[in-house]
Amino acid sequence: MSSSSSVPVLTIDGPSGSGKGTISRMVAEKLGWRLLDSGALYRAVGYAAGMEGLDLSDAEAVTRCAQTTKIRFQAATDGNDTHVLVNGHDATDELRTETAGAAASAIASIPSVRQALVDMQLAFRKAPGLVADGRDMGTVIFPDAAFKVFLTASAAERAKRRYKQLKEKGLSVTLATLQREIEARDARDASRTVAPLKPAVDAVFIDTTGMGIEDVVAKVLAVVRP
Ligand code: DC
Repeated sequence: MSSSSSVPVLTIDGPSGSGKGTISRMVAEKLGWRLLDSGALYRAVGYAAGMEGLDLSDAEAVTRCAQTTKIRFQAATDGNDTHVLVNGHDATDELRTETAGAAASAIASIPSVRQALVDMQLAFRKAPGLVADGRDMGTVIFPDAAFKVFLTASAAERAKRRYKQLKEKGLSVTLATLQREIEARDARDASRTVAPLKPAVDAVFIDTTGMGIEDVVAKVLAVVRP
């Protein structure tokens, strides 16, 4: 069968700092499946809107921006993260910042912006399989996915992980500020009316607080290959 609905999907949803990004990348690699980093799409639109000087609460303008922004993922040749090109510009580093995360969270609460990104996400479903990382992968985008995981960790632990990541990149942040920002973003992502952050009813819930990356990867892989 060539229908994309026959291609297996593993959805990995959860709040920021739950380890989703790293875990999804490692699991996709182990399975030999493609990876969709849906957060990068929202970050890219937030970034493009910022570059155009748009007011992020202007739903109409930001939706037009979501419809027209060209987002391309390019495998890194240096063994590093995938590069993200936004309208031809390599915005990989800019997209990782907390500012980009906050902009993404803001524009992600606009229903028509989410709608504008649906087809792009569905197009990632190609053989031999797809690991889809996000907030609404199992609930909205791939509700028929055969495998669903919801990853979480305490806000304090997520702030600590983020702090370490940002420090390694040489960015200056404080732990307290990060935890406050993470809690604010969680609250906004969970309380929005469209596609709020919540586990799919059929998702396997994994609390990664205190767990090592390898253990989480093993648990997630066991969902696909018990
Ligand atoms: O996973 P991330 O931190 O890169 O996501 C950035 C923001 O994008 C997040 O705060 C909420 C939004 N987002 C979303 O609403 N739906 C998704 N599937 C992925 C991300």
